Amino acid sequence: MTPMTDSFSSLWATRLRQNQGIRSLMEDLGQVTGHPDEILLGGGNPAHIPEAEEIFADCFLALAKDPSLTALLGDYQAPIGNDRFRTLAAEYLSPHFGVTLTKDNIAFFNGSQNAYSYLLNIHSGKMTDGSFKKILLPIVPEYIGYADQSIEADAFVATKPEVIPTGKHRFRYGLNKTDFDLSNVGCVALSRPTNPTGNILSLKDIHWMEEKTQKKSIPLFIDLAYGNPFPNLIGEEEPVTYQEGRTLSLSFSKIGLPGVRLGIIISNPDTIETLSSSAAVGNLAVGNLGVYMMDILFRKDILPLLAKNVLRPFYDKKRELAVSIFESEFQKQGVEYEIHDPMGGFFLWIRFPNLSISNHKLYHLCKDKRLFIVSGHYFFSGLNSDFSHTQDCIRLTYCRKEEELARGAHILAKIVASHQAKSK
Ligand SMILES: Cc1ncc(COP(=O)(O)O)c(C=O)c1O
Repeated sequence: MTPMTDSFSSLWATRLRQNQGIRSLMEDLGQVTGHPDEILLGGGNPAHIPEAEEIFADCFLALAKDPSLTALLGDYQAPIGNDRFRTLAAEYLSPHFGVTLTKDNIAFFNGSQNAYSYLLNIHSGKMTDGSFKKILLPIVPEYIGYADQSIEADAFVATKPEVIPTGKHRFRYGLNKTDFDLSNVGCVALSRPTNPTGNILSLKDIHWMEEKTQKKSIPLFIDLAYGNPFPNLIGEEEPVTYQEGRTLSLSFSKIGLPGVRLGIIISNPDTIETLSSSAAVGNLAVGNLGVYMMDILFRKDILPLLAKNVLRPFYDKKRELAVSIFESEFQKQGVEYEIHDPMGGFFLWIRFPNLSISNHKLYHLCKDKRLFIVSGHYFFSGLNSDFSHTQDCIRLTYCRKEEELARGAHILAKIVASHQAKSK
């Protein structure tokens, strides 16, 4: 293929080709060779949990035998889903979010990533009044997948988070209220739990922000991919509810169905209308499989119990195991480390404060040993000030088997131990 030269590529295309965070992460997932030495602690695949997989397989088989299969395979949905499915989702989700939703509050997308590529551009960039509005990430590090979704360059803005020590080898990021600034901001976006850190912003902090965003009619996007009501990996924190001014996104991926690609947006009717136009242009229609599976899973009310009885206990146990495996390797090999309090989700965010190489270099050294992690530098979109964490943190998933976590911890600790500045 002839490489795209600058004169033939748009500014957008050029920027996309330079910024490879999410692409590199997803390509790492796709390039898995199945080699027994491979250790896949990089991407955001959920764990394969037999009890969950059995439920999903039953659902799939029921659809395969149902007369509606011909419609599932042979008909388009409306761009953001047929009214019947949107009404079902509205009725089902209402009690989970403490409000009465209607179909006009609901839009389905081919994954929540797909929805964000529209949502962020609807609320940022050049506005009809000639102003340029930005996307504020109130706490970075924040989800790598938002980074290059804005068609306009320099659309993100962020400030350094508070770094709160919470114990030996532990810390937590907090909302930087002092520098919180909504000038030229078109929307505010956060994930709860946060990918990559496992942080869960308190409802108190969310309300504090909303007092300010609501005065300026700035929408707040809360990404619930790992949050309530499913998979509900929110530890001891309170669930988020819906209210005017918020746009919530749910995903079927982290319950165990990333291949199905279903994301659900809950928002005001006006935003949903605009999303319907975007979806028609960009996608024609949401895919049928996720929506039909949702129909079964919601009508049988399966997901809250699955989350409570299977997913949460599974991920809680994995998290404890992973923390103990990594800490014991770090200590054995003299690695200086700090772990972000893993409050929810399924990642560990680890800082190596004495690392003498960049986290990106560390990623490559690990990859040479077939260990896949994610370099932390990708997660700071919009931050333009110096912050050591952009260079010395990594993310890894604990969704893998114990033996794989143990091999990964050993290799990681060995590499970090041999690339530390002299102890302070
Ligand atoms: C915080 C967060 N939001 C959204 C997504 C996108 O998920 P999907 O498009 O599979 O729904 C992910 C995937 O990793 C994520 O971690």
